[in-house]
Amino acid sequence: MQIYLDTANINEIREAASWGILSGVTTNPTLVAREKGADFKSVISEIAELVDGPISAEAVSLDGDGMVKEGLEFATWHPNVIVKVPSTTEGLKAVYQLARKGIRTNVTLIFNASQALMAARAGAFIVSPFVGRVDDTGVDGMQLIREISQIYKNDSEIKTKIISASIRHPRHIIDSALAGADIATCPFKVLQMSMRHPLTDRGIEQFLADWKARG
Ligand code: G3P
Repeated sequence: MQIYLDTANINEIREAASWGILSGVTTNPTLVAREKGADFKSVISEIAELVDGPISAEAVSLDGDGMVKEGLEFATWHPNVIVKVPSTTEGLKAVYQLARKGIRTNVTLIFNASQALMAARAGAFIVSPFVGRVDDTGVDGMQLIREISQIYKNDSEIKTKIISASIRHPRHIIDSALAGADIATCPFKVLQMSMRHPLTDRGIEQFLADWKARG
């Protein structure tokens, strides 16, 4: 399973890229808005220079034609740009049109496996089921990943990848990998958390103490 960063923050992307673990980046309008005053095109172009992999840029139109128009523009920014559209019937229209023009899409805000099946059938490159937001409703979000993974495996025509999104903690990363996700897109904080363990820290302290005390 690949690791993407779910952020529009250049410093976070630069840092995670230096760890050698980043295969792509996802953004959404909320994450871009958090980077006060930043121009969308400049942010996406800068990310594309730091990470050699798919970079999702989300359309904000609600109608399919509007999404296609935005997507065609995003695609001129960099060959690695993936057009993110919402999981609606208008979104499906955009996926279908963009796929016919050779432009890759990421269908986001997926909350049931049938949305994921429709997105794949329309020609989505990636789907983004929101595990954490499903968990927030009291339902097991990871079950969504298991179901989509099985449905895609059952249909040899489907090549669509599954991004486990709305990741909230390190356990979500582990469970996504076990459930069959192709990618987990993670906030920077969760990536940092996933590398921390008190026994690692204690082990380092002990090794250093023993090294200093050696005869
Ligand atoms: O980028 C989409 C998704 O990962 C958002 O997560 O934490 O806002 O539910 P969250």
